[in-house]
Amino acid sequence: MKPNALPLMSFNGLSFLSLDAVNFAYPDRGDVVKNVCLRLETGEIHCLVGRSGCGKTTLLKLAAGLLKPQTGSIQLKGQDVTKPVPDMGFVFQSPTLLAWLSVLDNVLLPLSLHGPVTEAQQAFGEQLLTQMGLTELRNEKPHQLSGGQQSRVAIARALITQPSVLFMDEPFASLDAITRDELQHDFLAMCRAQGTAVLFVTHDLGEAIYLADQVSLLSEGRIHTALQVSLPRPRQSSMRYTAAFNVLCEQLRHDLDAIK
Ligand SMILES: Nc1ncnc2c1ncn2[C@@H]1O[C@H](COP(=O)(O)OP(=O)(O)OP(=O)(O)O)[C@@H](O)[C@H]1O
Ligand SMILES: [Mg+2]
Repeated sequence: MKPNALPLMSFNGLSFLSLDAVNFAYPDRGDVVKNVCLRLETGEIHCLVGRSGCGKTTLLKLAAGLLKPQTGSIQLKGQDVTKPVPDMGFVFQSPTLLAWLSVLDNVLLPLSLHGPVTEAQQAFGEQLLTQMGLTELRNEKPHQLSGGQQSRVAIARALITQPSVLFMDEPFASLDAITRDELQHDFLAMCRAQGTAVLFVTHDLGEAIYLADQVSLLSEGRIHTALQVSLPRPRQSSMRYTAAFNVLCEQLRHDLDAIK
């Protein structure tokens, strides 16, 4: 765990990230997010699932301060979220790497934008690449990487600033099943090492159960079901074949089938 990472705790009795009675509508549209309350504790992983168009990305953007709710409140560590802050990291579906930079320089980009990169920062970037199994590709350009490798670079880049919270929107959606399973495993190990909290959007119910401490199922902008995932950590790939895992998947599938 990074030196300044905190154990699971609350801030003056508040959650690490809290959304209270949040409502949001795009201009000239009806409400897309309706009365959403959500809690994320330090180091916790919370997955948002639901049918296409139910409001997952919108809710993620609200939580990250990229959109402003019409009513309700969003707080990170007890402070109102009005815009993205440096303590946040983002990973979107497309890795969006800069084509002319090497793998290592892409990872270091959030730091180099603010000034010269120190030796310690460079060493940390290389450590992240090692954890992501990318050491040998550190000098390659993005087009020389597979889709899975590019996703790994995007995750390392999001973690280089050691954010206390990551917002992720279907980051593994375009990957094959085997690569996705491996990335989920490595991603959990990295978040655990850094004590990073994560709000993670996915269409994949198995992915949600494997990653999450909590899963919220959205339907038409509302949280329809909140499911606690009490599978032991660290998660192991073999857990995907256990009865406990499959019971949770079935429960989520059942809830999803029950909504429009
Ligand atoms: N910029 C926008 N302006 C107007 N309406 C929007 C905008 N972005 C999204 N919407 C609408 O808001 C609703 C929720 O969109 P959102 O992208 O949050 O859904 P989602 O659950 O992430 O879907 P998907 O799973 O397909 O990514 C949809 O009806 C969509 O058409
Ligand atoms: Mg979306």
